[in-house]
Amino acid sequence: MASLNTQSRGYARKQQIRPLAGSLLALAIGFGIATAHADDALPKLASKTPLKVGFAQTESNNPWRLAETKSFKDIAAKCGWQLVMTDANSSNSKQVSDIQNMIAQHVDLLVFPPREEKPLAPVVLQAKKAGIPVILVDRNVDQSVAKAGRDYITFIGSDFIDQGHRAADWLVKATGGKAKIIELEGTTGASAANDRKKGFDEIIAKNPGMTIIASQSGDFARDKGRQVMETLLQAHPDVTAVYAHNDEMALGAIAAIKAAGKQPGKDIQIVTIDGTKGGMDAIAAGELGASVQSSPFFGPLACDVAQRYAKGEKIPTWVKVSDKFYDKSNVQQNMQDGY
Ligand code: AHR
Repeated sequence: MASLNTQSRGYARKQQIRPLAGSLLALAIGFGIATAHADDALPKLASKTPLKVGFAQTESNNPWRLAETKSFKDIAAKCGWQLVMTDANSSNSKQVSDIQNMIAQHVDLLVFPPREEKPLAPVVLQAKKAGIPVILVDRNVDQSVAKAGRDYITFIGSDFIDQGHRAADWLVKATGGKAKIIELEGTTGASAANDRKKGFDEIIAKNPGMTIIASQSGDFARDKGRQVMETLLQAHPDVTAVYAHNDEMALGAIAAIKAAGKQPGKDIQIVTIDGTKGGMDAIAAGELGASVQSSPFFGPLACDVAQRYAKGEKIPTWVKVSDKFYDKSNVQQNMQDGY
């Protein structure tokens, strides 16, 4: 409650000085000065039904993305949301223009997973300027441009660095601390790829018997992962382990390893992140060693955060999602988690 009062008072004060702020703003624009943070109050959110909510998806080319989209469709009616949905087909510029269209339509709330950290940050500021509150889910934006709690309500998502740590810890144990590793990175510039790499590489650097012999992007996609793995296998036939930033690329790598006449899970240990049904089946089949869960089910969490924000509750700048871990010891009893 205290935070609501502080926020409301700040907002009221800013409303009173708006004529002055307006002329300063015009002056700043004239001199080309960055004006994004001229008004620091976050836009308010009305408690009304229906609430027009824009959900701008990045792409729909894998089970994880489909599960994420479905979780928003499933919660919409229960949450009193009228959803406006788009799919950027793996294009940053399309995701930006999708969001700009939603701003032009005056949606009440924007929720989206920014495909990449930098290209999607300015549109968060544009939404704020238009008075539309934003919740980021799954991936984050560049905090030096747009900051949680100042420019958007919050980031709801996993700790990707920790996911990288957990994947590396498993691999160190599974290989007895000796491995030549190929790393299949996610989409270049995505917070999920940046942080999963950071976390994994940190642990590997502390283990002198473990070397990352190649690291290349497979864009979080199965077929791209397969193609990259095929090429890297030829250049590095001595590879003994693979770290893929998601299950889909790991499944692509498994196909490439088999095509090269090697046995995934025996000749080459594989660790990954997501916990999709395909990933869990591969663990059960002994081809994939382990997968750190990364939940795509943000719909209910976003609904809860939006309702609490509309009531004036203080929302933390990071609503952290905690993730499970699947390997052969527990995959069978957790199969219901797969999607
Ligand atoms: O940002 C989360 C990642 O994006 C998931 O691990 C991946 O499967 C998805 O495309």
